[in-house]
Amino acid sequence: MSNTERVNFGSKLGAILATAGSAVGLGNVWRFPYMAGENGGAAFILIYFGCVLILGLPCMLGEFIIGRHGASNTYRAYSKISGGSSWKYIGFLGVLTGFLITGYYAVVAGWCLQYVFATITGQLHGDPQYFADYFSNFSMDPFMPLFWTLVVIIVTHVVIINGVRGGIEKISKMLMPTLFILLVMMVVAACLLPNASKGIAFLFVPDWGKVTSDVFLGALGQSFYSLSIAMGCICTFASYFSRQTNLIKSALQISALDSLVAILAGLVIFPAAFSVGVQPNSGASLVFITLPNVFQQAFGNQPLIGVIVSLMFYGLLSLAALTSLISLHEVSTAFLYEELHISRKKGALIVTISTLVIGSICSLSLGNWSGLSFFGKPLFEVFDFVTGQIFLPIGGFLTCIFLGWIVPKQVVKDEFTNWGTLKGTFFNFFLFTMRFVCPVCILVIFLHQLGVI
Ligand code: PHE
Repeated sequence: MSNTERVNFGSKLGAILATAGSAVGLGNVWRFPYMAGENGGAAFILIYFGCVLILGLPCMLGEFIIGRHGASNTYRAYSKISGGSSWKYIGFLGVLTGFLITGYYAVVAGWCLQYVFATITGQLHGDPQYFADYFSNFSMDPFMPLFWTLVVIIVTHVVIINGVRGGIEKISKMLMPTLFILLVMMVVAACLLPNASKGIAFLFVPDWGKVTSDVFLGALGQSFYSLSIAMGCICTFASYFSRQTNLIKSALQISALDSLVAILAGLVIFPAAFSVGVQPNSGASLVFITLPNVFQQAFGNQPLIGVIVSLMFYGLLSLAALTSLISLHEVSTAFLYEELHISRKKGALIVTISTLVIGSICSLSLGNWSGLSFFGKPLFEVFDFVTGQIFLPIGGFLTCIFLGWIVPKQVVKDEFTNWGTLKGTFFNFFLFTMRFVCPVCILVIFLHQLGVI
């Protein structure tokens, strides 16, 4: 497909909201608040902001530059800017990483929907053990998780086949404001609970004593994951940006929105948990075991409000997961239809079916097919590990080296549109971070994750 036929996002707001939809996901709601709470509250938040500024933002900008310059899928965009050299395979790695994540991300998005359903049908009632059993029985069940995965994937498919403007942009413009309103309402409800101030203090009073090198590395990794970097998503969406889009401003706006959502999620989780004296823990168990219990107890005198809050929370989580999933799906769809010269519908169908297969295998590996494991880990966790801890840092590192040292400077500079006299300053700063700061940071995180340092 030639550039002239290619669609763009219809408006700046649509472009920002769609890209922010990719960034705002499960990582903001269940990972960030816990990391902040564990690692020194406000101290972590400040370090995190620093990481977004020195690592997340430049890397996002780097992907924007490659994507908009190429105006094509991630693989082709890397190919175009590298003049067809072997660097194009970094783009391919991005597509592959995005594709592999789509399957298990869809499974977790399906879990969120199950909890919306369980809230409506009154199943989320019981003691703490009940919630733990409920989650393990459900996630290991051979049918229900697959059913919800199917539902999520079909919704994603419908959005994708409606195209960039009619599907992705339109739904992002509806879902992102809804997500934001829900979140603000929940912050108010949680902060009005008795003892909520303890939770607010936990999040906002800096405890510098907890800050170790691990905290810095955790914050760096989180900034990368939360901004959806090195998975093809940012590059693919940037390929639909217009030439008038100011890439730096967009990257700033998207990271600000992403960070805001993460902090607001903390302002729901900690005040609610502290008001009932429950210590929040991390990951899936925080969201699917601890929080239903917290909501039930915190609003014990007004069960209806408890149900409404729980419904809003899982609704919000489902929306956040759905918008990220849409961006992941689009990475592979754009790749297939542009590279294989097939229709968008056919490309989307291939992605949908393969996502279903990968998702089903991942989901079953937690229960009936627990034999499906590598190095003692269920396939589900293997996908998470390989994509998040291996492919993602490798892709990010190579992209920085590529932009900093290989791509001709003028090509990169030409993408700094709409900056007037400041263009040169920003460009020099960007080049310095791409050449030195980001590759070193990513390398250190990578080696740390692998336990080498
Ligand atoms: N950024 C998303 C989150 O915070 C995760 C994600 C990564 C989604 C890559 C899409 C692509 O949850």
